[in-house]
Amino acid sequence: MAGNSLGLQPKSTRAAIEQELEAWARWGVEGHVKAKDPWMPYHELMTPMLARVVGAEPDEVVAMNSLTVNLHLLMASFYRPTKDRHQILIEASSFSSDRYAVESQIRFHGFDPATSLIEVGPKPGESLINDDDLESRIKICGSKLALVLVGNVNYLSGQKFKMKAITQAAHSVGANVGFDLAHGAGNLDLQLSQTGCDFAAWCSYKYLNAGPGAIAGVFVNKRHHHKGWTIPRFAGWWGHNKETRFLMKPNFDPIDGAEGWQLSNPPILQLAALRSSLEIFDRVGIERLAKKAAALTRELQAQLKGVKGLDLVSSPNADQRGAQLSYRVAGSPSQLSQRLYSEGVMADHREPDIIRFSCPPLYTRFVDVFDVAQAVRQSVEAL
Ligand SMILES: Cc1ncc(COP(=O)(O)O)c(C=O)c1O
Repeated sequence: MAGNSLGLQPKSTRAAIEQELEAWARWGVEGHVKAKDPWMPYHELMTPMLARVVGAEPDEVVAMNSLTVNLHLLMASFYRPTKDRHQILIEASSFSSDRYAVESQIRFHGFDPATSLIEVGPKPGESLINDDDLESRIKICGSKLALVLVGNVNYLSGQKFKMKAITQAAHSVGANVGFDLAHGAGNLDLQLSQTGCDFAAWCSYKYLNAGPGAIAGVFVNKRHHHKGWTIPRFAGWWGHNKETRFLMKPNFDPIDGAEGWQLSNPPILQLAALRSSLEIFDRVGIERLAKKAAALTRELQAQLKGVKGLDLVSSPNADQRGAQLSYRVAGSPSQLSQRLYSEGVMADHREPDIIRFSCPPLYTRFVDVFDVAQAVRQSVEAL
């Protein structure tokens, strides 16, 4: 139940990595062109599968770096504050790293987070952020707002935000919009292109099961392609035109799509792990997985209904949450998760009072949900 932290290892991953280890042993540097799947264009093997999993066009996505690094790279392009327009709006209790990244971007550009960082939280006494409040706050910020950056699923509450509505509200005041999909990629049918957002970034070690510290993914909306240097960016040779990359000329000529944001030649062993996992997603299809994720959390919610000492924090409506249920625990959440661990259940707690259960749809069975619910009921009573 901790796939929102680290997903399980696909059975095919070991062989996928071994294939590349063998290619390296056999071919050395020539593996870039002579390996069974040559390393030079290896990252392109991910592209159609990544695009399908998040609902984007292939040239809008690329696998690269890690999540926080990518948020910074994308903010380098899409957070261009001016004296009048410098605010970034985030959801309150956003993931710490996102907040640090946003705050550091604000400071980096010489602005003050006290006036440039806008956090929208729940109404007093509530646990979830009201969608209308989020949109009206965007409107209130108006011409001061440069960027909206929210998790499409909040890591703590599991709340799912309305990406299209947020995007429309932000664009209507002239701000850019990015989403952190860490808790949505691989369990929701995101239809990313259709949201109209400017960019998105996600990690692949949670629901995408690509392993600890896995190579992450980014999305850059098509309308920002073919703009070359008119979109400022941090550049590296892997983002340069593939035809002329090895001429090593001084002038950077960015690839037109998301690939133009790459910096370095990518880690093939990590890509091999991601590839083995994405192949499974591709066989099943994200639509079916998203339906199963909703059915799983619905079942867990039903099983835990009425358990004393557990209060549902996530939305009671499966359409308004990710593949995660968060509960407020009367008592110590760490004690509860320790007890659960001794019963064979790996849950994930956040101090001071939250326990989170995630149901990665690829490998969570309904019988697991029943077993977990029984263990939770017993453990909570014994607290
Ligand atoms: C929502 C969210 N943002 C950012 C991060 C940080 O990711 P990374 O360490 O890959 O940069 C995480 C990690 O769990 C996360 O859940």
